Amino acid sequence: MRVKLVAGNWKMNGSLASNQGLLSAIIPAIAPFSRMKCAVCVPFPYLAQMRQMLGGSNIAWGAQDLCEFDNGAYTGGVSASMLADFGCRYVLVGHSERRGMFGESDEVVAVKFGKALAAGLTPILCIGETLAEREAGVTENTVARQIDAVIAHSGVKALGQAVVAYEPVWAIGTGKTATTEQAQMVHAFIRGRVAAADEEVAAALPILYGGSVKAANSAQLFAMPDIDGGLIGGASLIADEFAVICRSAQPAD
Ligand code: PGA
Repeated sequence: MRVKLVAGNWKMNGSLASNQGLLSAIIPAIAPFSRMKCAVCVPFPYLAQMRQMLGGSNIAWGAQDLCEFDNGAYTGGVSASMLADFGCRYVLVGHSERRGMFGESDEVVAVKFGKALAAGLTPILCIGETLAEREAGVTENTVARQIDAVIAHSGVKALGQAVVAYEPVWAIGTGKTATTEQAQMVHAFIRGRVAAADEEVAAALPILYGGSVKAANSAQLFAMPDIDGGLIGGASLIADEFAVICRSAQPAD
């Protein structure tokens, strides 16, 4: 039985003061949920604040990106070991905003994935098709290519220490959610793709859905057999919304 994970992706939002307010509301709201996992992925400068505020809570924290190099002359880079130093459990890898706006290729994403694992972090590998790709009927080719790049670089067993997030790019921040059936179909395809290489790894692999998940649609999405939680952007910045989404990831009594 896969335990569901709800991870907030704050993107480039927040301030010391607003984070404090948000977490003060979220921590007690999430505290009773012992049968799901919760995390927030925040901008680098706030990792110390997460360690201070979330240490001892049932909310883990992580970053939204990492550098593909270990250390040295890479101005502006933040390495996997630096994230581990701040107590990160997770790191997003290959979010579509990084792939699209910052030109990250499948190969660079695969290297970052490997670096995260080597530092003991759990990479949340983000994959998903653009609107043009969906309309052209190549959704499966796209997600297969994105997952295959990671398998080629780190081996399928590496996915045993990872999380995958399926995020159709056309559903991110647009208010357009994939239907539960559309999402389930792609999740099942992803699991099948991994199963072709290793059935055990595929069966245990958490596959999150992301793209306009909110309190009003999370329960329906999380009820699908291959949807193991969500990666939440906009709604993770609203304490009440995020708490309801987390509650819907708790198995019913
Ligand atoms: P959204 O973002 O929930 O605001 O659509 C999801 C994401 O980009 O991870």
